[in-house]
Amino acid sequence: MDSLKITGGQTLNGTIPISGAKNSALKLMAASLLTREPLTLTNMPNLADTRFLSQLLASLGVEVYWPKGDNECRLNAAELTSTIAPYDQVRKMRASFNVLGPMLAREGHATVSLPGGCAIGARPVDLHLNALEALGADLKVEAGYVKAAAIHGLKGAKVVFPIVSVGATEHAMLAATLAKGETVLENAAREPEIADLADCLNKMGAKVSGAGTATVTIEGVESLSGTQHSVMPDRIETGTYAMAAAAAGGDVTLEGAPVKALGAMIDAMQRCGITVDADADAGTIRVQRNGTALQAINVDTQPHPGFPTDLQAQFMALMSIADGTSVIRENIFENRFMHAPELSRLGADIQVRGKEAIVQGVKQLRGAPVMATDLRASVSLVIAGLAAEGETQVNRIYHLDRGFERLEEKLSGCGAVIERVDGE
Ligand code: EPZ
Repeated sequence: MDSLKITGGQTLNGTIPISGAKNSALKLMAASLLTREPLTLTNMPNLADTRFLSQLLASLGVEVYWPKGDNECRLNAAELTSTIAPYDQVRKMRASFNVLGPMLAREGHATVSLPGGCAIGARPVDLHLNALEALGADLKVEAGYVKAAAIHGLKGAKVVFPIVSVGATEHAMLAATLAKGETVLENAAREPEIADLADCLNKMGAKVSGAGTATVTIEGVESLSGTQHSVMPDRIETGTYAMAAAAAGGDVTLEGAPVKALGAMIDAMQRCGITVDADADAGTIRVQRNGTALQAINVDTQPHPGFPTDLQAQFMALMSIADGTSVIRENIFENRFMHAPELSRLGADIQVRGKEAIVQGVKQLRGAPVMATDLRASVSLVIAGLAAEGETQVNRIYHLDRGFERLEEKLSGCGAVIERVDGE
């Protein structure tokens, strides 16, 4: 298995271009199932997860034209040859579950494996299923599969989510575009990726309004057409490199950044004493730290516009070298502190108590071999490794390949000493 070797202690200086957002791209790709015409997605991130979903779509009969390394992907679902998404494909990546709603809306039936739990928590899909049922789907869960039918089509309905869910909001939105009548989603997630999906759906002829607010209204239409859409830039990738620059020190400008989507993160970094200059019009965020101390602060993860859970691990790496004590509270997932013991291997002082991690800043981290169990946890170890003295080896980097495009290239372009080592 490949690993990353990082020689820490170099400051980062330069510019980093931001790629398209994984978590937007995955839902946009699922939207291709709603139309018989081609959907062309530009600014597509070349990631293990997006490539994986393209294979699942191909297995359903979608013609996929996406040359290796290219950032433009053309998906043509003129004919579906299958409406079954098998266990192996959904188990490996939870976002695959989102093909259920579009296939059901278009074909009147679909069978998709339940995704199961994952490293960061149990992650049920009850909210997805309740929303589809409210839209008139007849659902049976048998042998680990959801068998869904809506012989006379889906019907618009009011769906009130008991808790905020990004995936369930997107799933309901996708399915409701082809339902008869109006659907109103209340207590909807407000993540920027939801507005990106709505933009694309509207270009395809859907009538979605209110995306990005807590109430999303969808007026169902007969059919959708193809379109071209540019995937929004990745706010988590942006936040990750911002924290890498702050942890290692230096002066880094993130280009093509979704500045408005990162208010909570920018605010948190500024409260730590980091110089962050954000220009929403230019789409740039410049992060500077030249020898100044980092101030420890507390953060709580929250649904958007709060501090994102997907930046919690990276922020913990930063706080592990701050002055003072930081309390980091994870409110979204029940088991998302698995990076804490690995950061401790690098010398961080972290105690986990239930939903809280208490991070007592240390003067200096020291390199060590580490490994992680999920994507954001892995990259938090990269950040810590960049700030640490000596060599850090990050194992199991297939997690990183799921969500960070050209990570080593982007970091080494700013002076990081980082290389991929081929495993046996
Ligand atoms: C999305 O996951 C993202 N994934 C996650 O990013 C992100 O951490 C998360 O939203 C929160 O921002 C994608 O977009 C592909 P949720 P999602 O439904 O949609 C519970 C990354 O690293 N819940 O908003 O699955 C759930 O268990 C990934 O890129 C239910 O109880 O998240 C969690 O506690 C990791 N029942 C909470 O809601 C349900 O039916 C919020 O999850 C659905 C969710």
